[in-house]
Amino acid sequence: MCKGLQVAIDGPASAGKSTVAKLVAKKFNYVYCDTGAMYRAVTLEVLNKGIDPKDDRRVAEIARQIKIDFEPGETEQRVFLNGKEVTHDIRLPKVAANVSAVAAVPAVREEMTKQQRQIAKNGGIVMDGRDIGTTVLPQAPVKIFMVASAYERARRRYVENQAKGINTTSLEELQKAIELRDKKDSTRKVSPLTQAPDAIKLDTTNMTIDEVVSEISKIIKKTQDELA
Ligand code: CDP
Ligand code: CDP
Repeated sequence: MCKGLQVAIDGPASAGKSTVAKLVAKKFNYVYCDTGAMYRAVTLEVLNKGIDPKDDRRVAEIARQIKIDFEPGETEQRVFLNGKEVTHDIRLPKVAANVSAVAAVPAVREEMTKQQRQIAKNGGIVMDGRDIGTTVLPQAPVKIFMVASAYERARRRYVENQAKGINTTSLEELQKAIELRDKKDSTRKVSPLTQAPDAIKLDTTNMTIDEVVSEISKIIKKTQDELA
């Protein structure tokens, strides 16, 4: 039987990566790994411990010490930090506001990359993030770079927050925060958010979730056939 592929999905905040990655993983019976949740978990622990997110040395210590686990939940993937569930806490605005600083620390990236490669080593995985196709899994046979306009991405996050009953800032402020995070993620020194030369760019601004899932599924099937 054909061994499952490594599928790398990268792109800016709210492009639809995790929603689509989860559905694609389910369709192909692959494991899903949300690498953003790992950086968010490190950030939450840094904040909970009262550590300055810019204190590289102490932030790196936290990344090496903490244990991050994923468990499939009914509607979303559950995330555990040192055994305690943090699925919702890692989505708090204070975490979003500090995660790019924590994710820019080279030793944090080194540790997360090591763990992510371990999770992906047997294939049959859909991994989403910012540097999966460029750094974590540069040999992945399927690489997608998912984008959408900043307005559309802020609109999606806004609608999502409203549906979840999360008290959020205005749409304009949300767009500004997303653009700021994009800028920090794209300009950092280590593993910035960039499209891998061999990645397929998918602009989802005017695409439904089903259309994106179908497009990526076609790419995976074609690659499976080529490698068979
Ligand atoms: O879901 P959302 O697009 O808001 O972001 P996320 O995927 O949860 O990632 C949160 C943050 O983690 C990003 O803004 C990046 O700073 C960082 N990140 C990263 O540096 N590398 C990754 N592979 C994934 C996330
Ligand atoms: O993981 P990432 O930050 O890239 O985005 P996400 O959390 O998967 O998607 C952000 C929001 O956009 C979710 O509420 C999705 O349901 C929605 N979405 C959409 O409306 N249309 C798409 N084509 C993709 C995602």
